[in-house]
Amino acid sequence: MTPPDPAAFIRANTILHEPPLIPEIRLHLASEIVPIWQMTEEELEKSGLPPPFWAFAWAGGQALSRYILDHPEVVRGKRVLDFGSGSGLIAIAAMKAGASSVLAADIDAFAVASISLNAEVNNVSVLVSGDDLVGAANGGWDVILIGDMCYERPLAERIEIWVRGLVAEGAAALIGDPGRTYLPKTGLEKIISYAVKTTRELEDTDVRNTSVWRVLAA
Ligand SMILES: C[S@@+](CC[C@H](N)C(=O)[O-])C[C@H]1O[C@@H](n2cnc3c(N)ncnc32)[C@H](O)[C@@H]1O
Repeated sequence: MTPPDPAAFIRANTILHEPPLIPEIRLHLASEIVPIWQMTEEELEKSGLPPPFWAFAWAGGQALSRYILDHPEVVRGKRVLDFGSGSGLIAIAAMKAGASSVLAADIDAFAVASISLNAEVNNVSVLVSGDDLVGAANGGWDVILIGDMCYERPLAERIEIWVRGLVAEGAAALIGDPGRTYLPKTGLEKIISYAVKTTRELEDTDVRNTSVWRVLAA
């Protein structure tokens, strides 16, 4: 089956609402009242669709966005990369906090469309890339932001090696993470923690204790 047009699909299968920890940003998100919430992975695959990571504001992304909005000096006037951007939440938060530019990168074409739609809703301008940037040279980024990306071992390991290299060359890197299995066990400094409201359908719990970490050089 031909996959649908991403932007049309997003508009038809989400509603605009605010993530619990970030009332100042509205996003196209899944909800109990739209079909994507009930679609199983198997059904999505049959329709040629990847899992809709972009349709949720993940706990790690919410914590990192809250931290940036409350501490805008972290990104103010800086060139920022939001790696694995999903809905674009962190990228939008960074622009609202005064970043000079933000590149939101995600390899999922639906996420790419979702980032653009959500940036427009929030009246910010975000650059978007669908390339896999892992291993790439620093594209001019002062700050690299990573929300909830430590859920798969091979991906988490590739990201860690790459990001530690960029930090060794002078970039700052922050990770928002709710205790995912493949968060590096060493070489991180905890900055702050938040209790992030979530749903039992998504996370098997109502609240996830979620931290923002600074990545230290190797
Ligand atoms: C759990 S979601 C997190 C989204 C967002 N950062 C947040 O916190 O809400 C992980 C995202 O990483 C993206 N992703 C996975 N591998 C990637 C890669 N190599 N490069 C860029 N994005 C990737 C997925 O498509 C997905 O949108």
